[in-house]
Amino acid sequence: TTNQQWGGRFNEPTDAFVARFTASVDFDQRMANQDIQGSVAHAKMLTKVGVLTEEECAQIIQGLTEIREEIANGEFQWSVELEDVHMNIEARLTQKIGITGKKLHTGRSRNDQVATDIRLYLRDEIDVISAELNRLQEGLLGLAEKEADTIMPGFTHLQTAQPVTFGHHLMAWFEMLHRDYERLQDCRKRINILPLGAAALAGTTYPIDRHMTAELLGFERPTENSLDSVSDRDFAIEFSSAASLIMMHLSRMSEELVLWTSAQFNFINLPDRFCTGSSIMPQKKNPDVPELVRGKSGRVFGHLFSLLTLMKSQPLAYNKDNQEDKEPIFDVVDTLQGSLRAFADMIPAIESRKQEMREAALRGFSTATDLADYLVRKGIAFRDSHEIVGKSVAYGIETGKDLGEMTLEELQQFSDTITEDVFDVLTLEGSVSARNHIGGTAPDQVRAAVKRGHEALAAR
Ligand code: ARG
Repeated sequence: TTNQQWGGRFNEPTDAFVARFTASVDFDQRMANQDIQGSVAHAKMLTKVGVLTEEECAQIIQGLTEIREEIANGEFQWSVELEDVHMNIEARLTQKIGITGKKLHTGRSRNDQVATDIRLYLRDEIDVISAELNRLQEGLLGLAEKEADTIMPGFTHLQTAQPVTFGHHLMAWFEMLHRDYERLQDCRKRINILPLGAAALAGTTYPIDRHMTAELLGFERPTENSLDSVSDRDFAIEFSSAASLIMMHLSRMSEELVLWTSAQFNFINLPDRFCTGSSIMPQKKNPDVPELVRGKSGRVFGHLFSLLTLMKSQPLAYNKDNQEDKEPIFDVVDTLQGSLRAFADMIPAIESRKQEMREAALRGFSTATDLADYLVRKGIAFRDSHEIVGKSVAYGIETGKDLGEMTLEELQQFSDTITEDVFDVLTLEGSVSARNHIGGTAPDQVRAAVKRGHEALAAR
């Protein structure tokens, strides 16, 4: 026998391998709840416009509700012969309620159905991801507050540059994630539009009320063009792009955590529960969580490219190519959610090694810019003061002394405008607290930024 849903014009059954090759049910069953949600709304709309009777609608909703239960309980028999999640559920509905089940697909195609399911699915997952991002940002605010006065070396080119506060560094991470959050919300706006009603590609002859369906499903409005509705997956690409940026940020944070936990930096301790050991080297404690997140960023970037490539040569309207969007989308969601969860759990548990950070900041002439600025305040032009400080640094390298460790006489070899008050600017505390403007590293500024951060989260 030929396929029960579309086999009418076929003279032989589908080749067994082709059936498996073209099926998506093994993975798209993940959207079962959204598929049922969409079908219930569609049935209600068809009833309102007189295509289905109240009685039929009640039967359909009852059947779909039971099917939802069967799926949740693991009792549902998924069948590869029925190709995808949509036809599996519809076939089961007809099995349960008879002929009325066959009326559900009136005025609808799998093409607008699947587009609706993915949008519902991504909308749900974006809300989960947003909550996790929020939790991670809360954790960063807590830690930044605690570390507002902790001094560490700041780097450019990974070479010691100027002292910064650890809290300031953490608040840089907070800012990255804040933009990521906004990008997700922006992407959600374009996802939250209803394609159902586009049918296969041209719309339908039934007197459908797409505004009603949109409202029932919580969509902002129906889409404008039926061809566009069933064919484009740009919203999934946009989501993957926002996800890629989050993973890129998590990967950068990971890189720093990995460096900081090394014996060579020794800036922080990650509690044992976030690390693993070595089967051969008994002394090892490895920062697996950040390493893995750094590694996982690659697969998300890859999925972004898969989806772009999937889309780029498709003529309007729907093409089966689009079935290939599911696995990348699902893996982007899983990878992102897992990585965010790991980070949200781990960040509040970071223990700083304040003494080690401080000593590192004292190495590498991190207050050289402060000395140059000091000379400028004494009337020397910046380029000349740059030269003077450069010579002092060269002397420090030769004698093994940092600027703050030199005597006044030693410093005066390079400029006689230097006096006793120079030591106020050569201390780490003096250096950071002098950068006391919005966006600067001063502890007071970090505390103010944390306060604004809390307000931003509360306003979401
Ligand atoms: N499983 C299909 C997909 O994921 C559903 C739509 C199929 N439509 C069709 N006419 N073959 O895209």
